[in-house]
Amino acid sequence: MKRIAAAGLLVAGALLVVSFRSPDADLGADPELHVYKTATCGCCGIWVDHMKEAGFKVTVEDVEVEELWGGVKVRHGVPRELSTCHTTVVGDYVIEGHVPASVVKRFLAEAPEVKGISVPGMPTGSPGMEGPNPRPYAVIAFDGKGNRTVYEEVDPRTSR
Ligand code: CU
Ligand code: CU
Repeated sequence: MKRIAAAGLLVAGALLVVSFRSPDADLGADPELHVYKTATCGCCGIWVDHMKEAGFKVTVEDVEVEELWGGVKVRHGVPRELSTCHTTVVGDYVIEGHVPASVVKRFLAEAPEVKGISVPGMPTGSPGMEGPNPRPYAVIAFDGKGNRTVYEEVDPRTSR
């Protein structure tokens, strides 16, 4: 049942990509995530495993903390207040922090006109931040002009 729903989503996503994205921006059926993190970040590694388990192709690049915060996040337009432990680049998009794989899939399928999405603050219960007291958190979409919207509210106590 779940598989059928997921397949339907993928088909809808492919149509959206064809309809609204230019061919060179098309991420294709099998987008590759490139993750920038520091070598010692444990929660980052658990998130990478979460994404791989969800079927994503992932490459990981360990960088110094100065390069992560002063280089990678600046180059990819991650707002300071939405910045967290790791930064993922996929096509023209940036995925910041512990965003659930299911939300990343919806985001890439919908391909909205934003710069990226973030889960700021490493909330307990987000993928890679499992803990005894999970709490609801928001996935925030941002563009390059300072605009923010709540892209999805996630309650790990009921949804995942
Ligand atoms: Cu983290
Ligand atoms: Cu991280």
